[in-house]
Formats: sequence, C-alpha cells, structure tokens
Amino acid sequence: MAPFFSKDYKMKIIQITDIHLTTEGKSILGRDPNLNFQNVLNHINENQYDAEVIIITGDLSDWGETSDYLRLKNIIEKNKIPIHLCIGNHDDRANFLSVFPTLSDKNGFIQKVVKLSKGSAILLDTWGPETHAGHFCMNRKDWLRETLSTVDEDIFLFLHHNIVDTKIKPVDQIKLLDTSLLREVCNEFKDKIRFIFHGHCHLILNGSFSGIPFYSPRGTNHAAWPAFQEKKFLSSADLAETYSVIMVEDEDIMVHTIEFNYRGEIKNEGLPDYNTWDKNSKER
Ligand SMILES: [Fe+2]
Ligand SMILES: [Fe+2]
Repeated sequence: MAPFFSKDYKMKIIQITDIHLTTEGKSILGRDPNLNFQNVLNHINENQYDAEVIIITGDLSDWGETSDYLRLKNIIEKNKIPIHLCIGNHDDRANFLSVFPTLSDKNGFIQKVVKLSKGSAILLDTWGPETHAGHFCMNRKDWLRETLSTVDEDIFLFLHHNIVDTKIKPVDQIKLLDTSLLREVCNEFKDKIRFIFHGHCHLILNGSFSGIPFYSPRGTNHAAWPAFQEKKFLSSADLAETYSVIMVEDEDIMVHTIEFNYRGEIKNEGLPDYNTWDKNSKER
C-alpha cells in the first residue's frame, strides 16, 4: 500500500504517547498494550517511513517494571526510525535508568536534546516520586534555560504531563503542578519554541500555553472521555487509539491524528474536479 502522505513538507516527526507496556498477555481496560505498541510501530514504519524520529511522551510502562523497559529497549534497537523517550507518572525513573543508563542529564533527569533537520526537539522529565502529578523543579528549569540559551534554532518541546487545565477535575489533579516555572522559561524563549507536545490525559487536546501551541494525542491503548461533570473518577470510553504525524514547514505546522487500528474501507469519495459538483442535481 502507498504511504498515506506525499513528501511535500520540510520535516516529519512522529509522536506516540502512553503506550503503558505491561506483563505479556495482560490487558488494560480490555486492550492489549503490547500488541497495540507493535501495531502502532508497524503502521508508522509502513506509512511514515520518511519520518526523522519517533518520540514517545511517557507512560512507557504501566507499573514501571524493568521487564517492560527491557522489552522496549529490544524493540527500539531494531526499529529503523530512531525512537526517543520521555518518562511519565506510570514509569519508574530508577528502573528505567537501570535499562537506559545513558539517558540521564547531569542532574539524573531523563532530559535531552534531539537534533532534527529543522531545529531540535527538547525532551523534558516531569516525573516525581510517589505521585501521579507532574513536577518541574528548579534543577530542571535551569537545565532547560541553559539549553535554550545555547541553541539558536526552532525548538519543539516534548513532555508527559498536561500543562493547561482540561477543566476535568480528576485529570487536572495530576497535571504538571509547577507550571509557573515552565511558563517563565517559555515566556523568555517564546520566539524559539514553536510547539509543545504532551500526553498523559489519553484525550486529544489542542490549545496554547503562554501563546505557544500544544497538542496531545489520545494514546496507543486505553482512551479517556472528557466528563466535565465528574469530580472524582477518571472516565474512559471505547474510542480509537491514535498517534500524531507532525509536518513542519518554515512557517507552518500541521498535526494529523492517525487512528492506526482502523481496519475499515478507505473510500474514494466524489470527483476530484470540484467544478463538476452540481447544486441542482446534488451530484458530486
Ligand atoms: Fe497514561
Ligand atoms: Fe500519565
């Protein structure tokens, strides 16, 4: 099958989020995260083979288990398109580093710069111990400030937790708590930061943070539902698993949401010549 997209963009990058790998054979909310991770990689490798990188924005393992990271490492090493990792609240930093020991910065955080053909991606660590909420301390802020001061190019920020309130109480209780520190840096380097990508909510979210656009895909396994009236419990729904295709131009960015498990027909709808559409006969 031909790829979904022709290459008429300057750079393509892929975001996957919330893969939640777990013990083989186990499911989460009726879905198999290990199978879904394989499905999403198969779909990307077949349809987005011109992508420069794949970035996974956290919740790599459902329970932060070393065995999940070992399987992930094995898969990553074999994948043709390079894969880079953020950690999320379901991860365990120590277990992660036992498998990926070279991925910490000088302060022990899982943060790094990924050079791209049009700028750089900066991956942030918003993990905190014994909490599902996100953290961004002075050390991480200083690292980001220092890093942004030394790069003179377009920056794409990737992190796990949501930075803007969804207005869904149980979701926002575990958002990034230290947004003020991140906001200070974003305000200072607004001209460089072109886009922010996060995960965590298992919802498709778009918006802006201090004027910088952000996007979050639904995730590759279980899906949430935006239940604004719910005060206590997270809500889930049987919605499609997704990943993001990010197409970068000099001045513009397009983000597609791909429902990679869709197995139905893709129909060729209508005629390509819009001038032949007839309002009176309703033919098109
Ligand atoms: Fe998650
Ligand atoms: Fe999360």
